[in-house]
Amino acid sequence: MSPLAMSGRRIVTSLVRHHSLTTELIANMDKKATWDRFYAESSSGTTAFKNFEWFFGFDAVRDFIMPLLQTKSHPDALLEVMDMGCGISALGPCIYRHSPLPVRVTCADISPIAVRLMQEHVQAKAIQPHNLSSQLEFVELDCTQLHKHYGCSSVDLIVDKGTTDALLRSKEGKGKASLMLKHCLKVLRSSGSLLQFSDEDPDARLLWLETEAQELGVKAADVGVQEVGELRGMTYYCYQVTPRPIV
Ligand SMILES: C[S@@+](CC[C@H](N)C(=O)[O-])C[C@H]1O[C@@H](n2cnc3c(N)ncnc32)[C@H](O)[C@@H]1O
Repeated sequence: MSPLAMSGRRIVTSLVRHHSLTTELIANMDKKATWDRFYAESSSGTTAFKNFEWFFGFDAVRDFIMPLLQTKSHPDALLEVMDMGCGISALGPCIYRHSPLPVRVTCADISPIAVRLMQEHVQAKAIQPHNLSSQLEFVELDCTQLHKHYGCSSVDLIVDKGTTDALLRSKEGKGKASLMLKHCLKVLRSSGSLLQFSDEDPDARLLWLETEAQELGVKAADVGVQEVGELRGMTYYCYQVTPRPIV
């Protein structure tokens, strides 16, 4: 398997073996071209599509996500959910499949290759939602520009599995991670939440989130963390960011 088709952790582990290529890859995880290549390589040479999961799949985090989808924000509206930087993960389709309340799940990614692979996959698989009013869509979107897709205070839940991590670890990605957070806080309803699934230590991530949320000046935010668990010797966390309008 090429280094491009490895999980984030294995990429880091392979740093020693493939020093120059992997250093370049990790340094450029904020770039569209890096992910286009990654998804093109991971889907080439195989006829059957297979989801690729960064860190872990839906089952590891369903208990963090599904309780947040138990109350409608408006009686007639669908709950608006986004998987930010969805890649070819099954996370968004699983939320669509399992939510008892009607949801519109938008799986957004900067890579048109990932978006196309997922569109073809769900079309072929015809996934049935728990609630027949639910909707599932895949869009090519730079999530540092969320205002191009969403209005202010219009989203109930944003899930981010590894996307902010990828930006924060890139050479030129830190500003993009800040911008992404800023846009999340703008488009989230005051009752909404952003969940970041990450392997970054709380000492570092909580400080970053708290500092950024204050500096952004859009809205202050409450920030919390829970442990997801340990997998292959790594500890993973769920960071929950809840917008709080500035009074
Ligand atoms: C570490 S992968 C995680 C993929 C997926 N969430 C998962 O769990 O497998 C990061 C994803 O973020 C996407 N990405 C990077 N920058 C982005 C941006 N500015 N806007 C939207 N997606 C972006 C990449 O294309 C990639 O699919």
